[in-house]
Amino acid sequence: MSVKEENKNPAETAVKEKKQIAAKLIPIYIMGKRYEVPEGLTIMKAMEYAGYVLIRGCGCRGGTCGACGTVYRKPGDYKLQVALACQKTVEPDMYIAQIPFFPANRARYDFAGLTAAPEEVFKLYPEMFRCVACNSCTKACPQGIEVMDAISALKQGNIAEAARLSFDCIQCGLCTSRCFGELAQYHMFQLARRIYGARIVPRAEHLAEMVGTINEGRYDRFLDELKHVKEDELKKLYQEREAEPMTAGEDWKPKDTRYL
Ligand code: SF4
Ligand code: SF4
Ligand code: FES
Repeated sequence: MSVKEENKNPAETAVKEKKQIAAKLIPIYIMGKRYEVPEGLTIMKAMEYAGYVLIRGCGCRGGTCGACGTVYRKPGDYKLQVALACQKTVEPDMYIAQIPFFPANRARYDFAGLTAAPEEVFKLYPEMFRCVACNSCTKACPQGIEVMDAISALKQGNIAEAARLSFDCIQCGLCTSRCFGELAQYHMFQLARRIYGARIVPRAEHLAEMVGTINEGRYDRFLDELKHVKEDELKKLYQEREAEPMTAGEDWKPKDTRYL
């Protein structure tokens, strides 16, 4: 049926669509209870369709906050699988349980007193040497991080490499849930990235310059002006602002240079 034909009789079209949706219901099991949900939904939406109200284990809904770790198993498959509920779509007869929080060891430290010496990381997380190199963590990672390699880098004292490899970690804890050595990889990686950012990577001179300029009050007047602008005008200013093009070179400058 063409779009034109469909529009001729919206009521009939709506009934047809409803029937189509009903025809696409598939069975899934949430916490052991059977539900029928439309296929194509993510696990998160299927749970909500089934009546669950998610107040934990649900954040960004876009695969970036790491709040929705989920474990599932498919019929006839011995393998326990993990996924993000907001990203993985439901499959017929899958058994699902959410793990909104995974208890994992997080070392306590005073970051101001830490150096970039690997021994300090070893002391805080000695369990990293329990790693048996099984690679289960890498297979579980929804971000495609080479988790085992990052742990190996840490064990070798290469904090920069661990920070680089784990850059996309969203702290979902799925690697930890599958770890034979009971490591909390994501807390170790977070420490590695903190040390890398604060102690290893060279200071950005242009950033220091800009902070100096801000502290000297270069923008105080402009900010004061903005604070007194009405909301509608503020929205208009924001929408009409000249944004830096995606492919701008290093020497790009806006046409209005008053705020530089
Ligand atoms: S490294 Fe672990 S915590 Fe980080 S995104 Fe991958 S599975 Fe999640
Ligand atoms: S799952 Fe644990 S033990 Fe296995 S490779 Fe990863 S960190 Fe090592
Ligand atoms: S809700 Fe944020 S990653 Fe799924």
